[in-house]
Amino acid sequence: MKNIFVNTKSVMKLHDGISNINHKLKGVERMLLVTGEPGLGKTEAAIHYAAQNGAIMIRTLQLMTGPWLLREIVKELGAAPERRISDIFDQIVDLQKTKPRTIILDEVDRFAEKTEILETIRDIHDVCRCPIVFIGEEMADKKLMRYRRLYRRFVDVIRFEKLDREGVEQFIKKVSDVKFESEAIDRVLNESGGKISEIITLIHRAEAISRTNPDKPIGVKEIWKG
Ligand SMILES: Nc1ncnc2c1ncn2[C@@H]1O[C@H](COP(=O)(O)OP(=O)(O)OP(=O)(O)O)[C@@H](O)[C@H]1O
Ligand SMILES: [Mg+2]
Repeated sequence: MKNIFVNTKSVMKLHDGISNINHKLKGVERMLLVTGEPGLGKTEAAIHYAAQNGAIMIRTLQLMTGPWLLREIVKELGAAPERRISDIFDQIVDLQKTKPRTIILDEVDRFAEKTEILETIRDIHDVCRCPIVFIGEEMADKKLMRYRRLYRRFVDVIRFEKLDREGVEQFIKKVSDVKFESEAIDRVLNESGGKISEIITLIHRAEAISRTNPDKPIGVKEIWKG
């Protein structure tokens, strides 16, 4: 299997969404919410976007506190965090003033009960006027909706979708070292439900099976015996 990033429809939606919040308009918000079930490629798409566009990405952690998050942001912005928390906040403001960068926060569901952290992120957004992307699971928008002052700052909510038949076919073509027959692609679609994580598992299985006969396209019989 090739280690290739595939530009799916959801990936393109994410890129468009981030472009929309990268603006210089006064008084217009710059927050984006991205949601979707596990395994649809949200994290991978964000890592890819960040690497290509100089955005910073923070993987939130269950135990993360506000000061801890601020320190991580400073480190990602390429500086060593100051000791005092008020200085760290100023540091972020200064660094973002010199070179504004989009901040992507993955798995924000972890902050759903942490009002203080969410309010701090809103402060960073308002003071630095920098684009901030929240990535969460499919119910993240419901969870964040009750923070009305935060929620109204989301310019858009982007939902990652399962791959459709065409998407599965393209994904297999790009990453798989073996060819799949049309029926086998249908079966991958049904079995994976269009989830990238499941599709990858099925491609792995097909490649292992085809090792003895690599030139023969993978059919339904090869991967699903019985
Ligand atoms: N566009 C893509 N091209 C190639 N591989 C991808 C792509 N998107 C996701 N993958 C692969 O699929 C797997 C699942 O993706 P990822 O972890 O990004 O999903 P997720 O939506 O963030 O899931 P979760 O909600 O559980 O965090 C990973 O192994 C990742 O490398
Ligand atoms: Mg993820």
